[in-house]
This record gives sequence, C-alpha cells and structure tokens, in this order.
Amino acid sequence: MEQISSPEQVVITSGSQEGLYLIASLLARPGDLVLTEMPTYFGSLQLFQSLGMQVVPVPMDADGLRVDVLERILSHCRPRFLYTVPTYHNPTGWTMSAIRRKQLLALSEKYGLPIVEDDAYRHLHLDKEPPPALKALDHSGHVVYLNTFSKLLFPGLRIGWVAANRKLAQLLTRMKELSITTNTLGQLALAAYLRNGALRPHLENARLQYSEQAAIMESHLDRFSPLGIRYERPKGGFYFWVSLPEEINPRKLMARCLERGVSFTCGDMFLLREAEQPYIRLCFTHERSEKIDRGMKIIAEVLQQGKELQL
Ligand SMILES: Cc1ncc(COP(=O)(O)O)c(C=O)c1O
Repeated sequence: MEQISSPEQVVITSGSQEGLYLIASLLARPGDLVLTEMPTYFGSLQLFQSLGMQVVPVPMDADGLRVDVLERILSHCRPRFLYTVPTYHNPTGWTMSAIRRKQLLALSEKYGLPIVEDDAYRHLHLDKEPPPALKALDHSGHVVYLNTFSKLLFPGLRIGWVAANRKLAQLLTRMKELSITTNTLGQLALAAYLRNGALRPHLENARLQYSEQAAIMESHLDRFSPLGIRYERPKGGFYFWVSLPEEINPRKLMARCLERGVSFTCGDMFLLREAEQPYIRLCFTHERSEKIDRGMKIIAEVLQQGKELQL
C-alpha cells in the first residue's frame, strides 16, 4: 500500500507539460507503446509522438475510458503506461464513473500498468464535486498524479505538480534538478498567495462565473438543436463537446466563424491523425458572458447559412 505520505513524493514542475515530459521519459523509450484515451488533450499526444512513442488509442464513452477495450488491449500487448484525464476530460468534458475508476485500478494492478492521471480540471466543477481521483483510490502506487495551476489561476504561471510513489518521485526529483526552466519567482509568489488562503475564494468565484458562462453557452446550444446540433452538458472543466450534423464540415465552419472573429477548436485536433469527424470544442471559460452571447449568435448565423450553403 503506497499513498502520498510525505512532501518528498510531490515534485513541483513547470506546468503539467513538464511533469508529463519527465514521467513519460522515465517510464517509456522511443518505440514503446503508450495508451491514451481517444480523443485526448493534444499537448499529451504531441509530446508522446515527439518522444517517438507509439500511441495506442483507447475509446471512451460518457462514463470515461472503455475499460473493456483496455482489457482486450492489455491481454495481448504490454504498454509502458496509460495517460488519462478521468475528470472533466479535455476535450469531451466527460467524467469517469466511480465504477470505471475501480475497474481501471483493478486492471492496473492485474497487469502492473502504471496510470498517469492528469487532473487539471478537478477543482472546476459546475455543481457537485466529482468522484475521488484515481490517486486517492490507489493502493498499489501505480498511479502517478499530475495537476497544474494553469486552470486554477492562469497558464503563464507555468507551475504544476506530480505526486508519485517514493521510487518514481525520487527519479523525477533527480531529473527535475537538471532542469533550468524553473519559475522560482512565480513559485515564491504562489506560495505566498496560497499561505494567505486566497485560492479558495478565488475558486469559489471562478466556479460561479464559469457556471453562468456555461449556462449562457448552453442556452444558445439548445436553440441550435433544430439545426441538428448535439451535446451533453459538462459537469465541470472548460468545454462543451458539440457534434455537428453530417452535412456541416467542422473545418469550414471554423474558418467562416474565424472570419467573423469567433474561434473554437475542431475535434480532429484531439485525434491521432486528421480525420473526418463531426465534433467541435467550445470553451466557456475564456471569454465573459457578453462575448459568449455575441459569439454564439455569430456561430448560429454561420451554421444557418452553412446549412443552406452545404458548408
Ligand atoms: C488535460 C490538460 N492537462 C494539462 C494542460 C496544460 O497544463 P500546463 O499549462 O500546466 O502545461 C491542459 C491545458 O489545456 C489540459 O487540458
């Protein structure tokens, strides 16, 4: 049984991206197989591919990663680790159910599979709190936990953290000691901010603000439904994952909206390779309510014309 019991098991990094880079470099070599949910956060995909790793996709549904498919994969190959965003997943907004979490941990123990849990959005729930992190349920020490202040405060801070079993934490610390890209001043300022108890009220405000913004975006999406738009309300995080009707090409829609000053992300960014797919990802946290309102009206107009023009 190995839980996080000492500060030595926590390593401060220059954002999650550096944390993920250090973990991936320790756990796998070029050519090795690594598993990720598909779709997935593109920063992780780009990283694994640039390190020469072979990414094996595991499909998801609204209850999170498909553990039945994962078990089939594990029964015939030995990937080095699984990367997952189980809570308010980027881009889908889906959250892994409590049952799937237990099943995933059982598989990880059975096959000795390290799990890299990226929990960037955990504290940004829109109503009730999410299920416990995989790391909180981990008795074997197989889960490496990753989080960041990028979503809690702002990305330019470049401060994140990794929590891992003692052995891995020691190796990560040694690697981190070689890195000269540490934002020391930012860490000192953040430490003072946390000591002053400023994070909790900030998060309470942020959650209220984001709930209001999500509600505005949702009210527009509801009005889009006669146009064939489908989505599920996220319970937290930053995004609506929206499926477009077959006849609308997401890339063309994106280009038309961009001409009118509205940007969003096309779903193919989150896949292993560009492919035709019907999704776009809309972010409800970046802009305030009034701009979201204006932006959604523009998307509606372009969609309406797109239907007529066969975009
Ligand atoms: C799942 C996930 N992890 C990590 C990050 C970024 O983390 P950082 O800025 O700390 O590198 C993002 C940002 O989009 C994300 O969606």
